[in-house]
Amino acid sequence: MMASFDQLVRRRRSIRKYRPEMPPEAWIEEMIACASMAPSPSNSQPVRFVQIVSAPMRDALQQAMADGLQRLLTVWEERGLSKRLKTRIKVYGRFADFMFEAPALFAVGVAPHVGFAGSLVEAELIEKDDRSGVDMDISTGLSLKGFILKAQSLGLGTCILTAPLVFVPDAGKILGLEEIQLRCFVSVGFADEIPPAVDRKKISEIYWKI
Ligand SMILES: Cc1cc2nc3c(=O)[nH]c(=O)nc-3n(C[C@H](O)[C@H](O)[C@H](O)COP(=O)(O)O)c2cc1C
Repeated sequence: MMASFDQLVRRRRSIRKYRPEMPPEAWIEEMIACASMAPSPSNSQPVRFVQIVSAPMRDALQQAMADGLQRLLTVWEERGLSKRLKTRIKVYGRFADFMFEAPALFAVGVAPHVGFAGSLVEAELIEKDDRSGVDMDISTGLSLKGFILKAQSLGLGTCILTAPLVFVPDAGKILGLEEIQLRCFVSVGFADEIPPAVDRKKISEIYWKI
Protein backbone atom coordinates (compact mmCIF):
# COMPACT_ATOMS: atom_id res chain seq x y z
CA MET A 1 0.00 0.00 0.00
CA MET A 2 1.23 3.49 -0.80
CA ALA A 3 2.45 5.46 2.22
CA SER A 4 0.52 8.61 3.01
CA PHE A 5 2.25 11.98 2.84
CA ASP A 6 2.43 12.09 6.63
CA GLN A 7 4.01 8.63 6.81
CA LEU A 8 6.63 9.62 4.23
CA VAL A 9 7.50 12.81 6.07
CA ARG A 10 7.51 11.23 9.52
CA ARG A 11 9.44 8.07 8.60
CA ARG A 12 12.19 9.73 6.57
CA ARG A 13 15.56 9.72 8.28
CA SER A 14 19.03 10.59 7.14
CA ILE A 15 20.72 7.35 6.09
CA ARG A 16 24.50 7.06 6.34
CA LYS A 17 24.97 3.33 5.71
CA TYR A 18 23.90 1.71 2.45
CA ARG A 19 23.60 -1.68 0.82
CA PRO A 20 25.85 -1.93 -2.26
CA GLU A 21 23.07 -2.20 -4.89
CA MET A 22 22.65 0.77 -7.18
CA PRO A 23 19.11 2.23 -7.24
CA PRO A 24 17.52 1.89 -10.71
CA GLU A 25 18.20 4.86 -12.99
CA ALA A 26 14.43 5.20 -13.63
CA TRP A 27 13.92 5.82 -9.89
CA ILE A 28 16.65 8.46 -9.85
CA GLU A 29 14.92 10.18 -12.75
CA GLU A 30 11.61 10.09 -10.85
CA MET A 31 13.35 11.74 -7.89
CA ILE A 32 14.81 14.42 -10.17
CA ALA A 33 11.35 14.93 -11.73
CA CYS A 34 9.89 15.53 -8.24
CA ALA A 35 12.75 17.93 -7.46
CA SER A 36 11.97 19.81 -10.67
CA MET A 37 8.40 20.51 -9.51
CA ALA A 38 9.64 22.72 -6.67
CA PRO A 39 8.63 26.38 -6.61
CA SER A 40 11.42 28.85 -7.49
CA PRO A 41 11.67 32.63 -7.93
CA SER A 42 10.02 33.62 -11.26
CA ASN A 43 10.01 29.89 -12.05
CA SER A 44 13.76 30.22 -12.66
CA GLN A 45 14.37 26.55 -11.69
CA PRO A 46 18.00 27.17 -10.71
CA VAL A 47 18.75 23.86 -8.96
CA ARG A 48 21.00 21.26 -10.63
CA PHE A 49 21.72 17.66 -9.58
CA VAL A 50 24.98 16.17 -10.86
CA GLN A 51 25.57 12.48 -10.18
CA ILE A 52 29.25 11.78 -9.58
CA VAL A 53 29.72 8.44 -11.33
CA SER A 54 33.38 8.89 -12.31
CA ALA A 55 35.60 6.88 -9.93
CA PRO A 56 38.63 9.16 -10.48
CA MET A 57 36.47 12.20 -9.63
CA ARG A 58 35.11 10.57 -6.47
CA ASP A 59 38.67 9.60 -5.50
CA ALA A 60 39.99 13.13 -6.12
CA LEU A 61 37.22 14.59 -3.98
CA GLN A 62 37.75 12.05 -1.20
CA GLN A 63 41.49 12.77 -1.20
CA ALA A 64 40.85 16.54 -1.11
CA MET A 65 38.55 15.98 1.84
CA ALA A 66 41.13 13.93 3.73
CA ASP A 67 43.70 16.69 3.00
CA GLY A 68 41.27 19.39 4.16
CA LEU A 69 40.61 17.53 7.41
CA GLN A 70 44.34 17.01 7.97
CA ARG A 71 44.99 20.73 7.37
CA LEU A 72 42.44 21.62 10.05
CA LEU A 73 44.02 19.15 12.49
CA THR A 74 47.49 20.62 11.80
CA VAL A 75 46.25 24.15 12.53
CA TRP A 76 44.46 22.79 15.63
CA GLU A 77 47.81 21.32 16.79
CA GLU A 78 49.76 24.54 16.09
CA ARG A 79 47.28 26.69 17.98
CA GLY A 80 46.76 24.30 20.91
CA LEU A 81 42.95 24.44 20.65
CA SER A 82 40.45 22.47 22.75
CA LYS A 83 40.13 18.66 22.69
CA ARG A 84 36.43 19.17 22.08
CA LEU A 85 37.12 20.97 18.81
CA LYS A 86 39.47 18.21 17.66
CA THR A 87 36.77 15.61 18.38
CA ARG A 88 34.26 17.70 16.45
CA ILE A 89 36.56 17.95 13.44
CA LYS A 90 36.97 14.15 13.44
CA VAL A 91 33.25 13.47 13.94
CA TYR A 92 32.33 15.78 11.07
CA GLY A 93 35.05 14.09 9.02
CA ARG A 94 33.13 10.83 9.44
CA PHE A 95 29.83 12.66 8.77
CA ALA A 96 31.35 13.68 5.44
CA ASP A 97 33.36 10.64 4.39
CA PHE A 98 30.52 8.08 4.45
CA MET A 99 29.10 9.63 1.27
CA PHE A 100 31.84 7.93 -0.73
CA GLU A 101 30.40 4.55 0.31
CA ALA A 102 26.97 5.44 -1.06
CA PRO A 103 25.98 3.76 -4.34
CA ALA A 104 24.74 7.08 -5.76
CA LEU A 105 26.23 10.45 -4.90
CA PHE A 106 25.03 13.81 -6.17
CA ALA A 107 26.53 17.27 -6.07
CA VAL A 108 23.67 19.77 -5.80
CA GLY A 109 24.11 23.35 -6.90
CA VAL A 110 22.47 26.35 -8.47
CA ALA A 111 22.96 27.90 -11.86
CA PRO A 112 23.41 31.68 -11.69
CA HIS A 113 20.20 33.57 -12.42
CA VAL A 114 19.47 37.29 -12.49
CA GLY A 115 16.25 37.57 -10.50
CA PHE A 116 13.86 40.46 -9.99
CA ALA A 117 16.17 42.28 -7.55
CA GLY A 118 19.17 41.53 -9.81
CA SER A 119 17.45 43.22 -12.74
CA LEU A 120 16.85 46.29 -10.55
CA VAL A 121 20.57 46.34 -9.72
CA GLU A 122 21.43 46.08 -13.42
CA ALA A 123 19.14 49.03 -14.12
CA GLU A 124 20.78 50.88 -11.20
CA LEU A 125 17.42 51.31 -9.46
CA ILE A 126 18.82 49.72 -6.32
CA GLU A 127 22.47 49.45 -5.24
CA LYS A 128 22.85 45.76 -4.47
CA ASP A 129 20.99 42.51 -4.15
CA ASP A 130 22.00 40.75 -0.94
CA ARG A 131 19.09 38.34 -1.06
CA SER A 132 19.79 36.35 -4.23
CA GLY A 133 21.78 33.78 -2.22
CA VAL A 134 18.86 33.32 0.14
CA ASP A 135 16.47 32.71 -2.76
CA MET A 136 18.91 30.15 -4.17
CA ASP A 137 19.16 28.41 -0.78
CA ILE A 138 15.36 28.29 -0.42
CA SER A 139 15.05 26.89 -3.95
CA THR A 140 17.70 24.26 -3.26
CA GLY A 141 15.95 23.17 -0.06
CA LEU A 142 12.60 22.88 -1.78
CA SER A 143 14.04 20.83 -4.65
CA LEU A 144 15.87 18.60 -2.19
CA LYS A 145 12.68 17.99 -0.25
CA GLY A 146 10.95 16.67 -3.39
CA PHE A 147 14.02 14.57 -4.17
CA ILE A 148 14.39 12.97 -0.73
CA LEU A 149 10.69 12.36 -0.17
CA LYS A 150 10.34 10.67 -3.56
CA ALA A 151 13.35 8.55 -2.61
CA GLN A 152 11.59 7.68 0.65
CA SER A 153 8.43 6.68 -1.24
CA LEU A 154 10.53 4.35 -3.43
CA GLY A 155 12.12 2.70 -0.40
CA LEU A 156 15.47 4.50 -0.73
CA GLY A 157 17.47 6.30 1.93
CA THR A 158 19.21 9.64 1.47
CA CYS A 159 21.39 12.06 3.38
CA ILE A 160 22.00 15.72 2.61
CA LEU A 161 25.58 16.77 3.39
CA THR A 162 27.25 20.15 3.68
CA ALA A 163 30.17 19.12 5.94
CA PRO A 164 32.21 18.04 2.87
CA LEU A 165 32.11 21.66 1.66
CA VAL A 166 33.65 22.79 4.95
CA PHE A 167 36.61 20.49 4.36
CA VAL A 168 36.77 21.17 0.60
CA PRO A 169 35.42 24.67 -0.13
CA ASP A 170 36.59 24.39 -3.77
CA ALA A 171 34.85 21.04 -4.39
CA GLY A 172 33.11 22.55 -7.43
CA LYS A 173 36.48 23.24 -9.04
CA ILE A 174 37.75 19.72 -8.31
CA LEU A 175 34.61 18.31 -9.97
CA GLY A 176 34.86 20.70 -12.93
CA LEU A 177 31.50 22.21 -12.00
CA GLU A 178 32.45 25.86 -12.20
CA GLU A 179 29.24 26.82 -14.01
CA ILE A 180 27.14 26.00 -10.93
CA GLN A 181 27.53 27.06 -7.31
CA LEU A 182 27.59 23.97 -5.13
CA ARG A 183 25.22 23.99 -2.16
CA CYS A 184 25.52 20.43 -0.84
CA PHE A 185 25.91 16.76 -1.63
CA VAL A 186 23.20 14.13 -1.32
CA SER A 187 23.85 10.41 -0.96
CA VAL A 188 21.28 7.86 -2.11
CA GLY A 189 20.89 4.10 -1.77
CA PHE A 190 19.05 1.27 -0.05
CA ALA A 191 19.34 1.76 3.71
CA ASP A 192 21.55 -0.63 5.65
CA GLU A 193 20.75 0.87 9.05
CA ILE A 194 17.82 1.95 11.19
CA PRO A 195 18.94 5.25 12.73
CA PRO A 196 18.06 5.83 16.40
CA ALA A 197 15.06 8.07 17.06
CA VAL A 198 15.71 11.82 16.99
CA ASP A 199 13.98 14.54 18.96
CA ARG A 200 11.91 17.18 17.25
CA LYS A 201 10.91 20.49 18.76
CA LYS A 202 7.34 20.86 19.95
CA ILE A 203 4.92 22.73 17.68
CA SER A 204 4.70 25.48 20.31
CA GLU A 205 8.47 26.01 20.09
CA ILE A 206 8.47 26.70 16.36
CA TYR A 207 5.03 28.21 15.76
CA TRP A 208 3.29 31.15 17.40
CA LYS A 209 1.01 34.01 16.53
CA ILE A 210 1.72 37.72 16.89
C1 LIG B 1 21.64 21.60 5.20
C2 LIG B 1 21.94 20.26 5.82
C3 LIG B 1 23.25 19.84 5.93
C4 LIG B 1 23.54 18.59 6.47
N1 LIG B 1 24.84 18.16 6.47
C5 LIG B 1 25.12 16.92 6.92
C6 LIG B 1 26.44 16.41 6.81
O1 LIG B 1 27.35 17.07 6.34
N2 LIG B 1 26.68 15.16 7.25
C7 LIG B 1 25.68 14.38 7.77
O2 LIG B 1 25.98 13.23 8.14
N3 LIG B 1 24.41 14.83 7.87
C8 LIG B 1 24.10 16.06 7.44
N4 LIG B 1 22.81 16.51 7.48
C9 LIG B 1 21.74 15.64 8.04
C10 LIG B 1 21.33 16.10 9.44
O3 LIG B 1 22.33 15.75 10.36
C11 LIG B 1 19.98 15.43 9.79
O4 LIG B 1 19.00 15.86 8.89
C12 LIG B 1 19.52 15.77 11.21
O5 LIG B 1 20.43 15.28 12.16
C13 LIG B 1 18.12 15.21 11.52
O6 LIG B 1 18.11 13.80 11.32
P1 LIG B 1 17.14 13.12 10.24
O7 LIG B 1 17.44 13.68 8.89
O8 LIG B 1 17.47 11.64 10.32
O9 LIG B 1 15.72 13.40 10.63
C14 LIG B 1 22.49 17.75 6.95
C15 LIG B 1 21.16 18.19 6.82
C16 LIG B 1 20.88 19.42 6.26
C17 LIG B 1 19.44 19.84 6.09
